Amino acid sequence: MTNSSSSSVVPRHVAIVMDGNGRWASKRFMPRVVGHKHGVDALVRTVRACADRGIEYLTVFAFSSENWKRPNDEVSGLMSLVLDTVAKHLAGLAEEGVRILIVGDRSAVSDKVRSAWERAEQATRHNARITLSVAFNYGGRWDVMQACRQALAAGLAPEQLTEEQLGRYMALSHAPDPDLFIRTGGEVRISNFLLWQVAYSELFFTECLWPDFGEAELDAALDDFRRRDRRFGGVQALQAQPAPLTAA
Ligand code: FPP
Repeated sequence: MTNSSSSSVVPRHVAIVMDGNGRWASKRFMPRVVGHKHGVDALVRTVRACADRGIEYLTVFAFSSENWKRPNDEVSGLMSLVLDTVAKHLAGLAEEGVRILIVGDRSAVSDKVRSAWERAEQATRHNARITLSVAFNYGGRWDVMQACRQALAAGLAPEQLTEEQLGRYMALSHAPDPDLFIRTGGEVRISNFLLWQVAYSELFFTECLWPDFGEAELDAALDDFRRRDRRFGGVQALQAQPAPLTAA
């Protein structure tokens, strides 16, 4: 598909690494967790903006498998933020047609956090305007590993294991692969986010710190996406059929 062939191409699935909350807060001499709180506001804004633009799936990296290494007060601040966010925003998002799904290893989170996520999933399960997948205690390598384990446990023989089969066990099996991968905060890396799924995603990196992200930054990423030439390993799409070599 050549995105430039149409000015109206909207990605079906956008994935975002919401980076820069800590620096946003530090610049204001505030604790890092204040940056995460403003990050939640940016997330809610972005869900709405994506839904308004016809994006069907938005997947965000909210807590990585590695984020447990952060200072205890930041980890517990992020866990409390989950509870506050569900209390404050669930009803509004549910009303607006957002389906919420949590992807990641739930076994390590507290009962309180787990049940808040389950409440969010339950309350929005019939919604279809946009699917927000929140990656929480998620890592791309964990995802590949857990999918392999499930496939083995299901008794799949090595020769039965295809990319499609394994994809069914991956955490984002409910969504097509992301068309567009955005990372805010100026770093240019994937950081163990959706390793399997971003094989052919278009990558977009911006210096914008996540709490400052909004419609203008999303539109800049979408404009850039429209100009990309997606070939999925093939050759460039021909704009016009070549003339026959000999006249009939
Ligand atoms: C990375 O910024 C951000 C995180 C590790 C957390 C992202 C979480 C949110 C935006 C809140 C979402 C919460 C819920 C409840 C869905 P950083 O802290 O690494 O920033 P830095 O690179 O500036 O230090």
